[in-house]
Amino acid sequence: MTVRWTYHREFIRRLEAIPTHGLGLSVDIHSPAIGNVRRSLQDRHLLPGYLEVFRTTTIALENAMKDVGDGFLAYHGEGLWVTQPGVTETRAFQQAFTETVQHLQVLQSAWLNHECATKFLAGHYFGTYLPPLYTRSSADIVSENIRQIQSLLDQQCQLADGNTPLLLLEMPPLTYFVAGTLSLPSFFRIVCDQSTCGLVLDVGHLWTVFRYSWARRTQSLAQFVSTFLDEFPMERVVEIHVAGLDVHDPSGSPIPIPSSHPSKASLPAWIDAHGAPIPPVLFEMLDQILSHPQLTNLKGLALEVDTKPVEMIVEEFAEFSQRYNSAVPRISMANNSAFGTDASSSLEEHSAMTTTQVLKDAYDQYVRVLIGKAEPVGEEWKQSSAYAEELDHYRAGYLPHEILHWGGELEDMFVESYRRLRERGVSLEEFVTFWFREPRPSSGPYDFFLLKIERFVEFVREVAPDLQSMVEREARELRLAYRLINEPAVSAEVMVR
Ligand SMILES: [Fe+2]
Repeated sequence: MTVRWTYHREFIRRLEAIPTHGLGLSVDIHSPAIGNVRRSLQDRHLLPGYLEVFRTTTIALENAMKDVGDGFLAYHGEGLWVTQPGVTETRAFQQAFTETVQHLQVLQSAWLNHECATKFLAGHYFGTYLPPLYTRSSADIVSENIRQIQSLLDQQCQLADGNTPLLLLEMPPLTYFVAGTLSLPSFFRIVCDQSTCGLVLDVGHLWTVFRYSWARRTQSLAQFVSTFLDEFPMERVVEIHVAGLDVHDPSGSPIPIPSSHPSKASLPAWIDAHGAPIPPVLFEMLDQILSHPQLTNLKGLALEVDTKPVEMIVEEFAEFSQRYNSAVPRISMANNSAFGTDASSSLEEHSAMTTTQVLKDAYDQYVRVLIGKAEPVGEEWKQSSAYAEELDHYRAGYLPHEILHWGGELEDMFVESYRRLRERGVSLEEFVTFWFREPRPSSGPYDFFLLKIERFVEFVREVAPDLQSMVEREARELRLAYRLINEPAVSAEVMVR
């Protein structure tokens, strides 16, 4: 029996302990407030089979869970950065893992969904996910990290029913570019051949893969989906997400589509956008996915609705429930023989040390391309060279916007210091340069809001040392306000004082 088959049998054994979750919502309990979502759904007699909750503080999670009602709860984690070589040896990982275990236990979640992506890369922090390098050594490192995380969960995260959560890996979106030498389905096939992980297939993410890879040049969307699904490890798909897509347009000017391909010119430059409406094309893709014969182990089908207006969540979920009510039970009951027998899978032997170093070097280069310190040349950037304008937009538009505006407007956060800097002619663009000036070791669990506060204080200390006490006071106030939002107990304590 090959290693590949052993892992798959183990996956099936773990999967048998997971009940069918049905139709659900993937939410952030703060945005919009989970109580409001629940009440609005109740008013329309809509009951999600489960809620998948995005990472927050443990105390906020405990409080919110008192009021969510019946149905299963599942966890969408963050901060374990499974794509990164050596990640499990870091202090930040250990802290994030401890927190992850707490959250899984609060929710009694049957799975841990984690994006196959990172926000901390080669010493640099980002506000949104960066996909892995789609290469063989990268797939090997992801597999190794997943095996370690599943093993740690087995040791440290027993649930009340005696089981441990199954690690699910979500295929991330492409945001204007792709880097690597492997196709995405073959990357995830290698990972599944070397681990027990399940997968989350996000339909909007799949659309972005079509939009920003070679496929768009040669295939229709339906052909692309069909080819993709035939290669992707569909028998490992445990959950499907559907979320909005939108054009990212901070400047007000749309991103030009290359004119040399007029037949495909109508495709918008959408990226993953959970707050935006779900375009109908995603439901056409979902129908195609749900009818795929290898999709035999699906347990949940969720709309991902964090940051979306409550009214839109309710409308979309009502329509979704009507259309897909019977989809998940039907698939879960399907005969699970589709995986077939293993033919001649050969897992190449790699030296772990070499692979780690090769990948560390490759990720250094990957970041240098993204922050404009190197050009996108070589095999790994071949596909993105067809989308030069999109990659340029990422580097010159999207990324600076992310640092300045994502997770909190710097201008609104540091009102006084910002005004004083502006009076002296210091622009926020200089802060972006400062942010990416040199790599730094990770300083603890990932929190982009707190990180922005820390880095802005450092920036002001450097460019305007006389404003140090002002910026530090604003930073203290911001940190306290943040705690008050996330930890209501702190609020009570402050009121008593
Ligand atoms: Fe998703």
